[in-house]
Amino acid sequence: MTLRGFFAGSALALASFGTAAADNLTLYCAAEEAWCQQIKTDFEAKTGITVDMTRKSSGETYAQVRAEASNPKGDVWWGGTGDPHLQAAEEDLTEAYESPNRGELQDWAIKQAAAADNKTIGVYSGALGFGYNKDLLAQNSLPEPKCWADLTKPEYKGHIQMANPNSSGTAYTMLATMVQLMGEDKGFEYLKALHKNINQYTKSGSAPIKAAGLGETTIGIVFMHDAVAQSAAGFPIVTICPCEGTGFEIGSMSLIKGARNPEAARQFYDWALTAEMQSKAKDAKSFQLPSNKNAAVSGLTPDLSTIKLIDYDFEKYGSSDERKRLLKKWDEEVSTLPQ
Ligand code: G6P
Repeated sequence: MTLRGFFAGSALALASFGTAAADNLTLYCAAEEAWCQQIKTDFEAKTGITVDMTRKSSGETYAQVRAEASNPKGDVWWGGTGDPHLQAAEEDLTEAYESPNRGELQDWAIKQAAAADNKTIGVYSGALGFGYNKDLLAQNSLPEPKCWADLTKPEYKGHIQMANPNSSGTAYTMLATMVQLMGEDKGFEYLKALHKNINQYTKSGSAPIKAAGLGETTIGIVFMHDAVAQSAAGFPIVTICPCEGTGFEIGSMSLIKGARNPEAARQFYDWALTAEMQSKAKDAKSFQLPSNKNAAVSGLTPDLSTIKLIDYDFEKYGSSDERKRLLKKWDEEVSTLPQ
C-alpha cells in the first residue's frame, strides 16, 4: 500500500469510528415502558442514532448507574422520580449541562436543576394518589376510600398493593410524603398500619394499578396519572386524590458521568426538553404534566393546580443521607413486620 493509500485508509477508519460512536445511545429509561419505547423510536427516526433502551424503576436505575460508575455503560438516564436523580448528582455520578432549551421550561423543572448544580433537570411532574377497581370494591362491599387514613382501616386488609420504595421511585415518594405530611413518627406509624393491609410490594411503581385493572388487587397506591392511564385504557379504575393532600414527583433526566456517547447524549437531552417531544407523551398514554411550557397537555392529565400538594422538600428527601436513612428505616421497621 502506498503512503497515500495508507493515510486514506486510516482517515476512512477514523471517520467510520467517529460515526459509529455518534450513532449510538444507551438510554436508561425509568418511566412507563410504552413511553420509553416511543421515545426510542422517535429519537432514532429523527436523528438516525441507534438507541439501546432499558426500562427499569427509578431506584434500580440509580443503583445501576452507581454500580457502573467506574465503567459507565449508560449515556442518559431519562425519567423516573427526581429524588434518586438528585442523589446521583450529589454523589457525582452525573454530569452538569445547561441545555439551550431550558428557557422553555417551567420553574419547577429549573428548580430541580438549580438544586443539583445542573446535574439533573425536570422533564415532567405528577401527583401521588391511589386508584381502585370499582367492580372489585362493589363485589367486596367496601366503602370508597377517599383519604390516606382510610387505607389503614381493617376492612381493606389484603386489598391494597404498593411498590417497594427501594426499587420504586413512586413508593419512595409515598414514604417521603407520609413523613412530610404527618411528621416522621406518625408517618412511620401510618406505614406500619398500612403494611397490615398490603397484599404485595411490587418492584415497579405503576404495577399495583395495572394489577387493579386486571382485578388482581382492589386498590393500588400510584401516581394519579398512572391510575388515569388505566381508565383511559378501558379498565374499571377510579382515580382518587387523597383528602389530606399529597406529595408529587418531578420526573427528571440526567447525563451519566463518563458516558461513552456524550454528544449523542446531549442531543437526546436537548430534544427531550422540547415541546415537540413532550407533547407526544399522551400518544403513549402517559399523562404527566410536561416541563416544557409550550408542550400540549392532555385533557386527561390531573390538574395539579386543583390538588392540595405538600411543599415537598426535594433537596432534603433527594439527599443521599436522607434517602438511605429512610429506606433503611422502612426496611427494618415496616417491611419486616408480620401481616
Ligand atoms: C411511572 C410513572 C412515572 C414515574 C415512574 C416511576 O412510570 O408514570 O411518572 O416517574 O412510574 O417509576 P418507579 O417504578 O420507579 O416507581
